[in-house]
Amino acid sequence: MAAPVLVEERDDRVIATLNRPDKRNAIDLATVDALHAVCDGLEARPRTLILTGAGGVFAAGADIAQLRDRRAEDARRNINAALFIRIHELPMPVIAAMDGYALGGGAELAYAADIRIATPALRIGNPETGLGILAAAGATWRLPALVGEALAAELLFTGRSLSAEEALAAGLITAIHPADDLMDAAHAIADRISANDPLAVQHTKTALRAPRADHPRIDADLQAELFESPEKMRRMTAFLEKRGRA
Ligand code: COA
Repeated sequence: MAAPVLVEERDDRVIATLNRPDKRNAIDLATVDALHAVCDGLEARPRTLILTGAGGVFAAGADIAQLRDRRAEDARRNINAALFIRIHELPMPVIAAMDGYALGGGAELAYAADIRIATPALRIGNPETGLGILAAAGATWRLPALVGEALAAELLFTGRSLSAEEALAAGLITAIHPADDLMDAAHAIADRISANDPLAVQHTKTALRAPRADHPRIDADLQAELFESPEKMRRMTAFLEKRGRA
């Protein structure tokens, strides 16, 4: 059986490709387990994560064949929500590069990323209520934060999906690229992140994710650590010396 997620490891990034194209990359338990394994590696050695999907689709949701058989106790295990929270909390940035459908759990996986880009073929949304369930893996709390309460409510109650242009206008994605350029564009973002100090990037992510009540204390604590770092001294000295020569 083909691996449900293809994983390419590089020094500064990991590319995880959902790989059940004949099921439109529906997220089944094997996919969940494989993504947890990706998280194991990224927690042990922080790197940028690029999430994408094979076959012109990001992910058409949780696997409905498995969902149909799940009962109350399965709902309480929060299978997808727990994974997406773990992905959201990875130490380095997560980029979702989406072609085609990003529906249901597939959309919620993308909402858990830090940065989302897509092709013109994107259809992103949450049709869960049409299947008799709610979008319980992050949509009810992440989507309002990403697009505002009014649009989130409309999308979640109606199940309407957004086109790429609509998602861009709503701020849900930050760029649209032709399918042939999507991965280059994702890598270009990862390249820019890699040019920065990894610890500064990680601390920025920690601060970005902290609740309002933790600011500005958390920023000061993280900055205090960075102000003592040899890399800060090196980078600032390099900047000043370069200017001195000019
Ligand atoms: N779970 C399980 N299987 C899925 C799936 C899902 N979320 N989405 C697609 N599949 C399967 C189909 O059952 C079909 O399997 P089969 O070939 O064994 O019959 C295969 O993937 C291809 O799907 P198909 O519907 O023929 O592809 P399409 O390109 O015509 O349509 C979609 C693509 C995404 C519009 C359509 O598959 C769809 O609506 N999927 C469900 C989306 C959804 O409701 N997601 C929320 C889940 S909570």
